[in-house]
Amino acid sequence: MRVTIFGTGYVGLVTGACLAEVGNEVTCVDVDAGKIARLEAGEVPIFEPGLEVLVRDNRAAGRLRFTTSAAAGIAGAQLIFIAVGTPPDEDGSADLSHVLAVAHTIGAELAEPVVVVNKSTVPVGTADRVRATITAALAERGAAIAFDVASNPEFLKEGDAVKDCMRPDRIIIGSDSAQAVARLRALYAPFNRNHDRIVVMDVRSAELTKYAANAMLATKISFMNEIAAIAEQVGADVEQVRLGIGSDPRIGYHFIYPGAGYGGSCFPKDVKALEHTARSHGAEPRLLAAVEAVNAAQKQRLFALLQQHLGDLAGRTIAVWGLAFKPNTDDMREAPSRTLLERLWSAGARVNAYDPEAAHEVRRLYGERSDLALCPDAYAALDGADALVVVTEWKAFRSPDFERIRRTLRTSVVVDGRNIFDPAAVEAAGLAYYGIGRGRSV
Ligand code: UGA
Repeated sequence: MRVTIFGTGYVGLVTGACLAEVGNEVTCVDVDAGKIARLEAGEVPIFEPGLEVLVRDNRAAGRLRFTTSAAAGIAGAQLIFIAVGTPPDEDGSADLSHVLAVAHTIGAELAEPVVVVNKSTVPVGTADRVRATITAALAERGAAIAFDVASNPEFLKEGDAVKDCMRPDRIIIGSDSAQAVARLRALYAPFNRNHDRIVVMDVRSAELTKYAANAMLATKISFMNEIAAIAEQVGADVEQVRLGIGSDPRIGYHFIYPGAGYGGSCFPKDVKALEHTARSHGAEPRLLAAVEAVNAAQKQRLFALLQQHLGDLAGRTIAVWGLAFKPNTDDMREAPSRTLLERLWSAGARVNAYDPEAAHEVRRLYGERSDLALCPDAYAALDGADALVVVTEWKAFRSPDFERIRRTLRTSVVVDGRNIFDPAAVEAAGLAYYGIGRGRSV
C-alpha cells in the first residue's frame, strides 16, 4: 500500500519504518528540513534500538522516503497518517495546532479519495475537528473528494518501540467507515498473525482508550509510590510488597515498580490532558489529580533523601547515575533527573553525572555549567562526590563494585532511586543505603 506519514517523531518514524519493512511504500513528511536531510542521509535522530537498521535497509530498498513536501506525500497516498506532536498547552490541554495544520494541508492538496488516520495522542473529539478542517479546506478550493478519518492510537514504548510496533498486543481502530476499517485491517495484517489483535470501535472510544491506557499505567505507578511512602513509615519493604501483590494475576507484576516518579513525553502530558478533557466536559477527575500530585511529590524524593543524610547540600558534590527518563533512551523529557539536578543546583551543590546515552541531551538542555560535569563513565562520576544517586536503572548499573564506590566517595552513602540494589550487599561494603520504600534508613 502507498502510505504517507506526517511527523517523523518517535511514533511517525517507527511506524513508517515498520510499515516499509513489511513491503509498503512509505513516505514520511516533516516540516523540519534539517531532520529530513539527516534521515535522507541515513542518520536516525533518536536513539531507539533496531530503528537505524530498519530505516537504512528500507531506504536502500526504495520503500521508505523522506520529504518536506506535503504535496509530494499526499499525491497518490491510499492512507495518510497524522503522527505529529500534541505538546501540552499552558492549561494542560493538548495543543492541536500541528494536527490541524496537517489536516488543512491534506484538504488543500488532496486529489483522490483517501483514509486519514490519526495516530497522534489527541483529545476525544479531535477526529471530528480533523474531518471539519479537511472539509473546509476542500470547500475553499471548490473540491469534493471523498475521505474518511479514523483513529488509530499508538501504544509503543520508547526503548522497545520497534518491537512493540512489529508485535503489538492490540491494534485499536476507531472508525464508522467499513471501507476505512477494511483498509486498515489489510495494512495491519502482517502484524496481526496467530490471533486477532484488532479491536474496532467508534472514533471517540478509540481516542479515549489511548488516554485511559496511559492514565491507568500512571495510576499504578503513583499507587506504588504511595505504598512505598507508607512502607517507609511503617518499617516495611515495598519490594516484598510488590512481589506479594504482583503474584495476583488481577494485579500483575508490570508497572508496579516504585521509583523516582514517572517521566517521559507521554504519562505527564496525557494525565494532565485527560484531566483537562474531563473538566471541560463537566466531569471531576479526582483520581487523576491525585495521581499527578503523588508523582510531583515523588520527583522530590531523591533530593529529600540526600538532604536527610547529608544535611545542608551547599558545596557538596553528588554523583548521579542515569539521566534519561528511563533506560534505553536518550529522552530527557520530564525526566525525574531534571527535578533532582535543578534542586541540587539551587541548593548550591555540584553534580557529576553519567548516562550511557543522554549526555548530549543534557548538554542541549542545560548548556555548559560549572556545577555540572558530564562524566565519561559511571565510576568517573564518583570522583570527589559525597553521595551516589541512581536515577535511571540502566542495566550496566545493576551490579557495581560497591567496595570501589565506598573507596571513591567522600561520604559513604548510596541513594537507590530505582531499588536496583540489594540493600544488604550495599551495607556489607560499608555504605549507607537509601532506597524507595524499603524501611527506615540504616
Ligand atoms: C508510555 C506507555 O508505556 C506506552 O504504552 C505508550 O504508547 C507511550 O507512553 C505513549 O503514549 O506514547 P513511555 O513513555 O515510552 O511509554 O515509557 P514507559 O516505559 O511507560 O515509562 C514511563 C515512565 O514510568 C518512566 O519514567 C518509567 O521510569 C516510569 N515507570 C514505569 C515507573 O516508575 N514504574 C514502573 O513500574 C513503570
